[in-house]
Amino acid sequence: MKSVFFGAVSATALIASAVYAEPQAEVLHWWTSGGEAKSVAVLQEEFASKGGQWTDMPVAGGGGDAAMTALRARVLSGNAPTAVQLKGPAIQEWYEEGVLADISAVAEAQGWADVLPASIAGHMKCEGTWCAAPVNVHRVDWIWANADVLEANGIEMPTTWDEFNAAAEKLQAAGIIPLAHGGQAWQDATVFEAVALGVLGADGFRKAFVDLDMDTLKSDEMKAVFDQMRTMRGYVDDNFSGRDWNLATAMVMNGEAAFQIMGDWAKGEFMAAGKVPGEDFLCASVPGDGFLYNVDSFAMFDVDGDDKKAGQELLAELIVGQNFQKVFNLNKGSIPARVDVSLEEFDSCAHLSAKDMGESSDNGSLLPSYAHGMALRGAQSGAITDVVTAHFNSDMSSDEAVNMLADAVANSM
Ligand code: GAL
Repeated sequence: MKSVFFGAVSATALIASAVYAEPQAEVLHWWTSGGEAKSVAVLQEEFASKGGQWTDMPVAGGGGDAAMTALRARVLSGNAPTAVQLKGPAIQEWYEEGVLADISAVAEAQGWADVLPASIAGHMKCEGTWCAAPVNVHRVDWIWANADVLEANGIEMPTTWDEFNAAAEKLQAAGIIPLAHGGQAWQDATVFEAVALGVLGADGFRKAFVDLDMDTLKSDEMKAVFDQMRTMRGYVDDNFSGRDWNLATAMVMNGEAAFQIMGDWAKGEFMAAGKVPGEDFLCASVPGDGFLYNVDSFAMFDVDGDDKKAGQELLAELIVGQNFQKVFNLNKGSIPARVDVSLEEFDSCAHLSAKDMGESSDNGSLLPSYAHGMALRGAQSGAITDVVTAHFNSDMSSDEAVNMLADAVANSM
């Protein structure tokens, strides 16, 4: 009786697998902080609810440097993950290696071209085919602040770098750490590009970090960017070296520090901790005009097996789906990549982001983040970040820094 029963079950399973491959996906990502983990769980749950089997491959490390090292090792050993958090020109770089899967069938069936802004769609295409699926638009150029700390010290959100510096001096005199910062290269780069946008303006930023214009890289304005970085080095605490970005956000949450300059994944941390924007914490764009965007996306790698291919199709479909774009971004701190998702349930920081993004797009100041891999290929962005970090962690002068910057960029091309 028993063996008949089991025999019947396995026969059914065999028939089922012949006609329907159960979607499988091994997903490499770097979303391991509180807010990030809550966000990626939204995708895991949607995938499971559609019968998918998710194998998680998280590689801790904000900004994704460690994840990208892990990816290279996996691809080199001929064992690429099914889906990978990948963005900007890195998508094209992997496409050129001939290892990406074409997801155009899903993109076309779902009409992605009609619901994604052209600027975002452009990053998702490789020689005319769709090679990645976007999840969001993060803004990088934000200042976050502890509302009580500012109020107690009679400080408004700064609207110029001079105001920022004056506020920082006042806070420091009151025994509060002005700037919560983690000394990791990508965090130094994040602060640097936010300062650069403010000091150089949108055109200057584009010339420097999109066009790699040597005159701009060596300009007096760029020296002023490094001057401001030197000033800000004085506003971080002694233990900043190596600190993770979410621990820096926690310092703002608990009032140990007043400000953090970080993309709006920091808002995901505040929200995950139950903090309320406008009450517990404040958001404002950094002084200056423009909008630095950072679009997270997933690329599918060429893999064998109908179950994995079914997993890739299902993932691509869910990622650009309206419900996922809403729920994920409510957790992540970003705004949806799709233009037709209502922002009604989103908070005031998200509304500000959407408004500024629209205006920047209209007036030509919507710019790709260099620090988050949206503007340049790895060799060039890496060369810039090396100089930024070397300057921040030494007593290098701004003159030396701009010369080193121009040389490093020239040598990386
Ligand atoms: C960014 C990424 C964000 C966030 C952040 C910190 O590069 O786009 O989604 O995860 O790193 O890990």
